[in-house]
Amino acid sequence: MARRRFSSSGPLRGSIDAPPDKSISHRAALLAGFGAGETRISRFLDAEDARSSLAAIAALGAGVDASVGGGGSLDVAIEGFGLRGAGQPNGPIDVGNAGTLIRLLAGLLAGQQGRSFVLDGDESIRRRPMGRVAEPLGRMGASVRTGAGGVPPIEIDGSDLHGAEHRLPVASAQVKSCLLLAGLLADRPTTVREPAATRDHTERMLAACGVAVATEREVALPTDVAPATISVTPVERIALPPMQVPGDLSSAASHLVAALITPGSDVRVRGVGLNPTRIAVLGILNRMGAILEVEETGWEAGEPVGDVRARFGSLRATRVEPAEVALAIDELPLVGLLGCFAEGVTVVRGAEELRHKEADRVAGVADALRALGGEVEDFEDGFAVTGTGGLHGGTVDSRGDHRLAMLGAVAGVASRVGVEVDGFDAAAVSYPGFERDLRSLTA
Ligand code: S3P
Repeated sequence: MARRRFSSSGPLRGSIDAPPDKSISHRAALLAGFGAGETRISRFLDAEDARSSLAAIAALGAGVDASVGGGGSLDVAIEGFGLRGAGQPNGPIDVGNAGTLIRLLAGLLAGQQGRSFVLDGDESIRRRPMGRVAEPLGRMGASVRTGAGGVPPIEIDGSDLHGAEHRLPVASAQVKSCLLLAGLLADRPTTVREPAATRDHTERMLAACGVAVATEREVALPTDVAPATISVTPVERIALPPMQVPGDLSSAASHLVAALITPGSDVRVRGVGLNPTRIAVLGILNRMGAILEVEETGWEAGEPVGDVRARFGSLRATRVEPAEVALAIDELPLVGLLGCFAEGVTVVRGAEELRHKEADRVAGVADALRALGGEVEDFEDGFAVTGTGGLHGGTVDSRGDHRLAMLGAVAGVASRVGVEVDGFDAAAVSYPGFERDLRSLTA
């Protein structure tokens, strides 16, 4: 397990390009693999998770031709096998660490009549809840079995699927997407109602593939994203147009937060995806008094994209609202870190889902910040962090979780004596170039 030291640094200064978005890369690989004909994807994320998606569609019969592009990306050409044309793989499909892949792929495979599949992955995947997809897929007529306790491996016998109306008990874009994708293969329309708004990349990309997707949002304040009810109509085929993947705000957020808490810093991250269902973290940072500038520069793959600049300044505590939790779920560990540097008590509650990520991120954040001198109270559904004027430093365990590995590194550059991150190699799951980019800003 790699151990890396991140020393206390001077100001972070300069610009970097955001690495490609992980959520959109997974979806692009799957929709192209199950698509008709060839799809070209540029700026596909070159990281362990997204490569697992390419390997999965290749194991199912897609032609995958990937070459290394710039800035942590791949240029990919995918020859799809068609919506109902997944081949019978030789053995289990290895999803590695990728929760998005296992859940979305389960929906697509559930409708491949006459073929059987096993989805398995690493130690972390084998602890993650799959009943949340197996159970509603079962109500569509799917044959999906999980291991004891509802965890992978997942065994799927492809079946005739029936359209259904689902009301999700948890706000999860992965579960929503799984059911919408299964709905493409069903005999009548499928509807998914979410309890709180979640990222909508799947809906946007399906519409681009020629699928009839209807989204109705409940009424909300103009600045909010309201929960949605989404319907899809089954189709014979999908075809994803050529696309370029926008940058990943969740990855960019590490550098932005490093700048916000390190005196004298001024950092710009370019080409960041600014989909309204992803930018709740910017609203949270705004309330904390962060000095941020967001400049929309255009559109890529049906999503707004722009540059985000962050400068050091004083911060005040905030309380993350329930409606923001799902929309900022991957950035909440960083909000905890910011809390150590803010005036007052920063509270994240209603975030029980954090316990079911690549690691238990409630325990991971609380242990990490305490180990560095932070004052943290943890709850079943979140944490409260008291601002103490900064962090001393020490050692953080990534628990094999990419976001906790990057959290430790960011804490290190802003700390008084530096941070050792045990298991730093986990960062390569979503952002292999993270250390290089961070060090380029601190050089
Ligand atoms: C993702 C959705 C989120 C997020 C994950 C990626 C996606 O998970 O935490 O990193 O690509 O749909 P849930 O929707 O399960 O909360």
